[in-house]
Amino acid sequence: MKVILFGGTGMVGQGVLRECLLDSGVTSVLSISRSRTGGEDPKLRVAVHSDFLDFSALESQLSGFDACFFCLGVTSAGMTEQDYTRVTHGYTLAAAETLARLNPQMTFVYVSAIGADSSERGRMMWARVRGKTENALLRLPFKAVYIFRPAGIAPLHGERSRTWLTRFSYTIIGPLLPLLQYTFPRYITTTEQLGRAMLKVARSGASKRVIESADINSI
Ligand SMILES: NC(=O)c1ccc[n+]([C@@H]2O[C@H](COP(=O)([O-])OP(=O)(O)OC[C@H]3O[C@@H](n4cnc5c(N)ncnc54)[C@H](OP(=O)(O)O)[C@@H]3O)[C@@H](O)[C@H]2O)c1
Repeated sequence: MKVILFGGTGMVGQGVLRECLLDSGVTSVLSISRSRTGGEDPKLRVAVHSDFLDFSALESQLSGFDACFFCLGVTSAGMTEQDYTRVTHGYTLAAAETLARLNPQMTFVYVSAIGADSSERGRMMWARVRGKTENALLRLPFKAVYIFRPAGIAPLHGERSRTWLTRFSYTIIGPLLPLLQYTFPRYITTTEQLGRAMLKVARSGASKRVIESADINSI
């Protein structure tokens, strides 16, 4: 399986990349990011890109892939709706529309978040924008699209968030994560479980398109 990864420098993306590199069925990973971070691996190629609303400069490298794991995302904290929409909806759809055109046999897996609002009409700005993004992805002509909506994610192998607010939160709740995972198994997953579940749906499909937090650990 040939994989394209977005957000590979982030906490979720680092975990997904680790699982891809460990998986003997994954033959190559193209990580598209705005900086060249991440480890060296014979299976890994990094394409540094700056304009996430326009992928035309990369198009010659974007064909022939089986799966895309889209882990790029931001917290809405402190962002206007316009700015949050530009990254969350704009970047995701710009990448996905390009990939759908070049890879109709691709499975696209999007990391969203628990509480995304499929009606697009609720009171929470971030949830509306997430829901709108998910709905637009589900309409694209990929072989399949899966939406993952994790809640809490425990970084299992040293993955670190790029967002200071998340890093700060993990400093506080990090030591409690094993207990929280035990007490609320439906709401806590790990970077490892998430990465493995994404690989599994890309490879074998799933019975539903929207994979809620509670489903992730059982895939
Ligand atoms: N962490 C959690 O507990 C959790 C829970 C539920 C859902 N999620 C969702 O999972 C996704 C990934 O979260 P995460 O924890 O991995 O976040 P993270 O550690 O902050 O990483 C975010 C990733 O997105 C990229 N990115 C952010 N803004 C960008 C921009 N303007 N242009 C290009 N790339 C940009 C970052 O690239 P740079 O390295 O270049 O900044 C990084 O690769 C997000 O959508 C998040 O909402 C996370």
